Amino acid sequence: MSNNGSNKNRIANCEPVLRIRNLRKTYMQGKIPVHALDDVSFDVKKGEFLSIVGPSGSGKSTLLSMIGLLDRPTGGSVFIDDVEITRAKESEAPRIRREKIGFVFQHFNLLSTLNAMENVDIAMRFTGVSKNKRKERAFELLIQVGLGDRVKHKPSELSGGQQQRVAIARALANEPAILLADEPTGAVDTKTREVIVELLKGLSEKGQTIIVVTHDMDVARQTDRIITMRDGAIASDTWSEMK
Ligand SMILES: Nc1ncnc2c1ncn2[C@@H]1O[C@H](COP(=O)(O)OP(=O)(O)OP(=O)(O)O)[C@@H](O)[C@H]1O
Ligand SMILES: [Mg+2]
Repeated sequence: MSNNGSNKNRIANCEPVLRIRNLRKTYMQGKIPVHALDDVSFDVKKGEFLSIVGPSGSGKSTLLSMIGLLDRPTGGSVFIDDVEITRAKESEAPRIRREKIGFVFQHFNLLSTLNAMENVDIAMRFTGVSKNKRKERAFELLIQVGLGDRVKHKPSELSGGQQQRVAIARALANEPAILLADEPTGAVDTKTREVIVELLKGLSEKGQTIIVVTHDMDVARQTDRIITMRDGAIASDTWSEMK
């Protein structure tokens, strides 16, 4: 079992890997502006396991898409490893996403015609890594998530929890600075949820920075820190006491 106190102390000495400053995102719904993010600022240190909670519509997914460079803010900045990604040219965005960010989604988003190995391998295409090295790394990652005996299985031949573990292996393939997960346990049962959370905890203890958006307080309580969003702003930011 992890010990929250020691993780917190370990993290306290680390540099911030993510800095968010005065982030704003305004959508126009017809003529009415919707302030999905309204002056959000915080830092995340290397190895932190952070959860973002809050009511539906409070801006959680919008925040993740700004950090993951899937969309651009109306104002403010996001720095990853001291690079201001929000200033990157559109032509640079795919490379930054590939190198800095690993994405995990609620519905896994694996390619159905590819097996587990190929789903992980494909994340490393276009990175200059040789085919043999990619295969080796994909196998190592699948072993790391506990699926060394399922490498040839296609998504339809895997359980929801196993598919999510393949998706986590794929997200880790390029050693991202940050793993972003939007409701990673939203589509799995309670027992599988615990397997996924334990896996993420283990990764964070090895230094992987992880940000999860979740509606599930049982998940949030197992992370190092909980940021609660309300109406596009941070309502509270607390270190988890359960740890
Ligand atoms: N592409 C868009 N165009 C217009 N409005 C949007 C768009 N995306 C999000 N919004 C609005 O921004 C606000 C924040 O949405 P967001 O998806 O970030 O919420 P959330 O906290 O992730 O909610 P949920 O828990 O339901 O996933 C909402 O009011 C939403 O309607
Ligand atoms: Mg959302």
